[in-house]
Amino acid sequence: MNPYPPGAYRPPNDRWGPFSRLAKRLPEGSLAVVDRTVARLHPDLIPALKARAPRAIVQLVGGESAKSFTALEKVLAAGLSLPRSGTLLAVGGGTVGDVSTVAAHLLKRGVRLVQVPTTLLAAVDSSLGGKGAVDLTVKGRVVKNPAGVFHYAEESWVCPELFSTLSPTQVREGSLEAWKMVISLDAALFRRYVRKPPALEKLVKDARGLKERVCAKDPYEHTGLRRVLNFGHTFGHVLESVSHFKLSHGDAVGLGILLALDVGRHLGVTPEPIAAQAEAALAEGPGVLGRERVASLLRPAPLKDIVTLLDADKKAGAKGELRMVLLTAIGSTEVRDVAPETWRALWPSWTKGVRP
Ligand SMILES: NC(=O)c1ccc[n+]([C@@H]2O[C@H](COP(=O)([O-])OP(=O)(O)OC[C@H]3O[C@@H](n4cnc5c(N)ncnc54)[C@H](O)[C@@H]3O)[C@@H](O)[C@H]2O)c1
Ligand SMILES: [Zn+2]
Repeated sequence: MNPYPPGAYRPPNDRWGPFSRLAKRLPEGSLAVVDRTVARLHPDLIPALKARAPRAIVQLVGGESAKSFTALEKVLAAGLSLPRSGTLLAVGGGTVGDVSTVAAHLLKRGVRLVQVPTTLLAAVDSSLGGKGAVDLTVKGRVVKNPAGVFHYAEESWVCPELFSTLSPTQVREGSLEAWKMVISLDAALFRRYVRKPPALEKLVKDARGLKERVCAKDPYEHTGLRRVLNFGHTFGHVLESVSHFKLSHGDAVGLGILLALDVGRHLGVTPEPIAAQAEAALAEGPGVLGRERVASLLRPAPLKDIVTLLDADKKAGAKGELRMVLLTAIGSTEVRDVAPETWRALWPSWTKGVRP
């Protein structure tokens, strides 16, 4: 008997292989939620699912709009007759994965979830760690992820052939999130990667291992230990917002890491050679965009908008300081409250596109 109730934290159970082979593991009568683009680009996928006599196959258009109550309702309606012992299979990127996670949590108060991440970002990040969420539109503005759950996948299927249709930008995006974990969590792996850049599958395997190591210590985000995964995200979110989300999340995080390294150096937390090493590795490995991109995004942004964005991100601090993850050495970090004077001092360099 499975000792874990559906959705409860469990050590991950990753299966690697072609989708056509792994699909044979799917119990008959399951509910499948599939990214429509993935289904189109991989024409064998739907037939492989149909061979398992699913209750329904719901196709969603991948992208942030998949994380809507409308899409959630569509999935829930298709799963009405799914028994509590049933399985929901999510095939897609982070958006399809997130809405499916919420649906799996709600259907019959929790059914088995199997994740098949099809973007690199989903493979290294969003399909792990139990989180799912949908977005809300408040006064015409989309608020990301306010309605969310923890519901851990019982299995994840990593099917490398599905990554073959990703664009170079999508690959870079996922790689940057993976390198974020390597730089902040594992010095030995970092040294190996710098000597020889990893193949994509190795990067996925390693990043999944690293994220899991963090989540295992704090599966429901109670202790703050998972905060380390936010390395690069404070100013990453700012850049994403001021670009009106034209800059992808992964690219924003890559640039956000450069800015976090600057903050760390300014405060004497990140030693100069460490920051230089990390920055060079991000340029040579995943190919972080350049500082001129930071400048072009920040220069036209009114400072008061930046303050508002940072206020929204501010996690604590009695005086409203920013709480940032800073690198102390390769593979280790420290959470620091950062006063506004700190980033304001770096602002002139950031808007000129030069390293402070
Ligand atoms: N739950 C978590 O812990 C967590 C963590 C990080 C991010 N997220 C969420 O993940 C989402 C972003 O995920 P994403 O980047 O995977 O976005 P996504 O799901 O929107 O996918 C991006 C695009 O790639 C397409 N696509 C998917 N697989 C493909 C493939 N194999 N080949 C070609 N195209 C493919 C999709 O149709 C979509 O257009 C955000 O909503 C974010 O909030 C969640
Ligand atoms: Zn991220």
